[in-house]
Parts: sequence; structure tokens; C-alpha cells
Amino acid sequence: MQCHVGSPVEGEDFFNRKKEINAIWRALDSDSLLLLAPRRVGKTSLMKHLVYLAPDKGYQASYLTVEGAADEADFMERLYRAVAENHPNIMKTLVDRVADSPLGTWVKRVKKVGALGVSIELTAEAKKHWPESMTVFGELLSGLETPWLLAVDELPLFILKLLRLDDSGKRAVSFLHNLRELRQNQPGVRWLLAGSIGLDTVTGRYNMADTINDLRLTTLGPFSVHSADDFLQALARSYGLDLHPDVRSHILSRLQWLLPYYIQLVFSELLDVDNRPIRVT
Ligand SMILES: Nc1ncnc2c1ncn2[C@@H]1O[C@H](COP(=O)(O)OP(=O)(O)OP(=O)(O)O)[C@@H](O)[C@H]1O
Ligand SMILES: [Mg+2]
Repeated sequence: MQCHVGSPVEGEDFFNRKKEINAIWRALDSDSLLLLAPRRVGKTSLMKHLVYLAPDKGYQASYLTVEGAADEADFMERLYRAVAENHPNIMKTLVDRVADSPLGTWVKRVKKVGALGVSIELTAEAKKHWPESMTVFGELLSGLETPWLLAVDELPLFILKLLRLDDSGKRAVSFLHNLRELRQNQPGVRWLLAGSIGLDTVTGRYNMADTINDLRLTTLGPFSVHSADDFLQALARSYGLDLHPDVRSHILSRLQWLLPYYIQLVFSELLDVDNRPIRVT
């Protein structure tokens, strides 16, 4: 296990969150989710880990972030790409299947990149008519037998972007309505929509709460004292450090809010101090 400060953690660097993961799988049995939690709590790491675990749970899954998406068309292209990049064969088969139908005209190009990858481009027409390309997207995915999990990060930032493009709120409402329709028409696709600012507050302010009221609201908090202690110990072990239980409990009592981020931060400072066993005096 490696100490990471700042960037999302993956693979064996991702620690625990078992309770949250189980709760999310249970909730996804029946609903799509809106995961809202403060910055640096570990949302992106958790989403990527869920996507990694998804095949064992019977889902095909993709992660994407829509932070920085310029507009609705860009959002849609990111969705197509996320599916195409992670599941090139599936995307290629799907696109081939619809190639001769009106649906096929939306997809400009599916080309091979490297040994495994596939990149996808939408036509200018598809970009202009993003609601239709959203429908096509749903139809492509619903052609599959396995359910899909789409983990979309930073959705509230994208909605704020739409509100900046049109401060009447109409554009944001229309986008959220279309996204809701996509969720409802394609029940085989589960969505995990996440962000660190309250989408619920934004939609409430603009009177568009009904566009997200099918989503089950969920959040993410700090580690329990027990998990935090285990985490600190696991980090110490992987760096060959001997952290006495008193030292660990001192660190955790000083931290108070036991975010894995803070634990990583303190641990990285410890690594900088020295490689000798550390004692509280
Ligand atoms: N399960 C975990 N195991 C180990 N470290 C973690 C875990 N979750 C989060 N972290 C730590 O917290 C930091 C922030 O995690 P992450 O980027 O996933 O949070 P976030 O909520 O997506 O943040 P932001 O709101 O800035 O996008 C990581 O760099 C890592 O140090
Ligand atoms: Mg994040």
C-alpha cells in the first residue's frame, strides 16, 4: 500500500469502506443514487472502486467525470467515450448493430486505438440534437443483457456550468429532465451520480427538485475510529514503520474528523520526519 495525498486512490491503495460499499450495492438493486459529500472525503476513490468491483456484482460499469464538460453535447460525448473506452468490444458490437438504422447516423466514427481501445466520435448533428443522442445512448445500452452501472462524477459542477450558460435555469432543467427520462426509460442502467456541492440545494433553488427526486440520496463520511486505526497501521506496515498503539491513538485523537485524506496527510509527514519508530512524549 502506498501513501497518497490528494489524488484518488485505486487498487490495493484503496482501504476498506466495506460498509458503505455494501450499502451502495444494496441500494443499487432498486435505485439509482445521488452521492453528495464534502470535498476530499473519498467519493472519486469509492466510485472507481465500485466500478472495479462491478463485474463481480453482475454489472458492466464505467466511471467518468463531467467536471469541465463544456455543454450537453460534451457531456454526451463523455458518456459514449466512457463506455467505449472501458468496453470497446461491446460498444463496437452495439454501434455495428445500429449502423444501418437512423440511430447509426449519430455516431460518426468508431476507431481502434492501440491493441484494445476504441474511440468514438459523435456527428455534429448528434451534438446539436443532444437529447436524441441521449435517447440513442439509452437504446444502445438497453440492448445488453447485463445491467450497467454508470458512475458520473462532479455532476453538480456541470449543472452549475449550465446555469452559467443560461441563468434563467431553463437549460439546466431541460438537461436534468432528459437525464431523468433516460433513467426511467432504461431501468437496466443504474446511475451513481456524485459531487461535492449540493445538487439538491441547487435544484431546490431553481425549482427543479422533481428532476432528481427518483434518485436515492446517499452520503459518505469519515472512517470509524477502528477503521482509521487499521488504516494507519496498514500504511505503517507497508513502509516498515513501527507505530505504537499509543502513537496511533494520539494521532487519531488530534485529527478528530477521521477522513482517510487527513490520515494520509499526517502519515506522509511522519515519513518525512524519519524512518525511526515514533513515540509520543
Ligand atoms: N478508501 C480510501 N483509502 C485510502 N485513502 C483514501 C480513501 N478514500 C480517500 N482517500 C484519500 O483521500 C484523498 C481524496 O480522495 P478522493 O479524491 O477520492 O476524494 P473526493 O471526495 O473525490 O475529493 P474531491 O471532492 O476533491 O473530488 C485521496 O488522495 C486519498 O489520500
Ligand atoms: Mg473527486
